[in-house]
Amino acid sequence: MPADEPGAVVVGGTAGLGLATARALGGRGPVTVTGRTTERAERAAAEIGDGARAVAVDLARPDGIAASLSGVDNVRHLVIAAMERDRNPVRDYDVTSASRAVTLKLVGYTEVVHALASRMTEDGSIVLLGGLAANRPHRGSATMTTVNGGISALVRSLATELAPIRANAVHPGLVGDSPHWAKETELCEALRSRLPTGSLVTTDDVVDAVLFLLTNRSVNGTNLVVDGGESMT
Ligand SMILES: NC(=O)c1ccc[n+]([C@@H]2O[C@H](COP(=O)([O-])OP(=O)(O)OC[C@H]3O[C@@H](n4cnc5c(N)ncnc54)[C@H](OP(=O)(O)O)[C@@H]3O)[C@@H](O)[C@H]2O)c1
Repeated sequence: MPADEPGAVVVGGTAGLGLATARALGGRGPVTVTGRTTERAERAAAEIGDGARAVAVDLARPDGIAASLSGVDNVRHLVIAAMERDRNPVRDYDVTSASRAVTLKLVGYTEVVHALASRMTEDGSIVLLGGLAANRPHRGSATMTTVNGGISALVRSLATELAPIRANAVHPGLVGDSPHWAKETELCEALRSRLPTGSLVTTDDVVDAVLFLLTNRSVNGTNLVVDGGESMT
């Protein structure tokens, strides 16, 4: 593989949907994965193989993001999947937890793009991970509903400001085989039984959507819902 070949960066690539996406991108060119710690990022990079690189970056501390990513260059595909969950009912609101989750997903995601934009190829593309909570609020989802709604708006700003670089978002429903939900068997079964498809969204379904948005030359500024039709129920 030539050293100067443009590559992919997956921020939040040490677990779940980010790691699965990084694995899928692994056979296609150089990949850099990030997590909060070097140790976890290196473990993921070793799992991906093919010379994948590891970088530690904390999106909840946006002031440090540019320095953490200063060694990352020549980016064609940027996927940002990092998240910290914040189940936070409004009548019982925890400001510290909410501030951290909002900072991570809105300021942190934007600062990653700011830090890397000038090092992206003109045919480059960005995919942000949002989530169905943007349109399907539930008790405790105020923060996740807000930030994922923000992601929908952010991709349109990015696509406008960074053109010709494209920007899109994937908004998954509950991903039944993702590490967080796989153990919630009762909840998963209750959801599965009311989905039009009769089956939960899988990690592969989400990765497939991310790869489509990364590579299709004409899809830009869109928000792709991957929910098995849950939004219609
Ligand atoms: N799983 C689902 O059912 C689902 C549904 C809808 C939307 N989504 C969206 O999909 C994305 C991925 O979700 P997931 O379930 O795959 O998440 P996950 O398994 O919890 O993985 C989260 C990733 O984010 C990284 N991370 C956590 N805090 C971070 C921070 N402060 N700074 C930088 N990186 C941080 C973690 O790395 P370290 O722990 O190594 O730091 C890990 O790589 C999220 O944006 C989520 O909102 C997921």
